Amino acid sequence: MKKFTCADDIGDIRSAIDEALEIKRDRFAHCDLGKNRTLLMIFFNSSLRTRLSTQKAAINLGMNVIVLDVNQGAWKLETERGVIMDGDKPEHLLEAIPVMGCYCDLIGVRSFAGLKDKAEDYEERVIEQFIRHSGRPVFSMEAATRHPLQSFADLITIEEFKTVRRPKIVMTWAPHPRALPQAVPNSFAEWINKTDYEFVITHPEGYELDPKFVGRAKVEYDRDKAFEGADFIYAKNWSAYNDPNYGKVLSTDRRWTVDSDAMALTDNAYFMHCLPVRRNMIVSDDVIESDRSIVIAEAANREISAQTVLKRFLQEL
Ligand code: CP
Repeated sequence: MKKFTCADDIGDIRSAIDEALEIKRDRFAHCDLGKNRTLLMIFFNSSLRTRLSTQKAAINLGMNVIVLDVNQGAWKLETERGVIMDGDKPEHLLEAIPVMGCYCDLIGVRSFAGLKDKAEDYEERVIEQFIRHSGRPVFSMEAATRHPLQSFADLITIEEFKTVRRPKIVMTWAPHPRALPQAVPNSFAEWINKTDYEFVITHPEGYELDPKFVGRAKVEYDRDKAFEGADFIYAKNWSAYNDPNYGKVLSTDRRWTVDSDAMALTDNAYFMHCLPVRRNMIVSDDVIESDRSIVIAEAANREISAQTVLKRFLQEL
């Protein structure tokens, strides 16, 4: 694997899940694979789970880890070519990236969508520059349009909890006070579309996702109808994708909050969310605290998805 930024990079999903579950059974089985190898994790945005789980996964494999928070302690980076650099950014990404590549064997990058320029976000300009100029394999720790380590962990979790071969998965939009990227829902859809699970996406009109990610999913605007018979409810907020509203909050309608009345429509579904989650906006206290909430198991599997991906990189270094 030379890069890991999307579902296709993992190859056959069944083998990837089997490999992940094997790693989970003995996460120290390959504790020497990363000896004398260095992982550099670069954060342009905040993180709790990705930061900790990816570091833990690298430690399980015997790697050294360097973490750089670009906006805290590093020079501010210019990302655009052609800019006259007379402002507050003293270093250009085009020098910084190959320099960073000198100090490591593998690079993880977190760089969210700016939500101002759709073309720029959907071209994945930042992570693509790392792939082009670092001279190292690069993986996404959430980029502008996808969050593959999260989606891989989500699939591992569904595999562990499903009780029927082909569960019904419902991804539901839920309200949030601020504009959030489409990376998590895009990615979740992309990965679920690699399975043969029944897949429904529900959201208010105006929140349609890029059809490239929606794929074979059924889009149902009536949330109650969508929830009927669901085995898993995957809640997430996202901002509008379609022009002219790209990156905007169109609604904070709390009728879309996932509460116990909504969950009662399902087939005793499990509740999932990638976290962090805003309680009583996205999900009610009682639902997230219920015994059908698997958000902690989902977060725990972030270590496993990261370790599976790092192991594959290390095996090819
Ligand atoms: N789910 C997730 O990526 O969490 P963090 O933003 O805390 O890393």
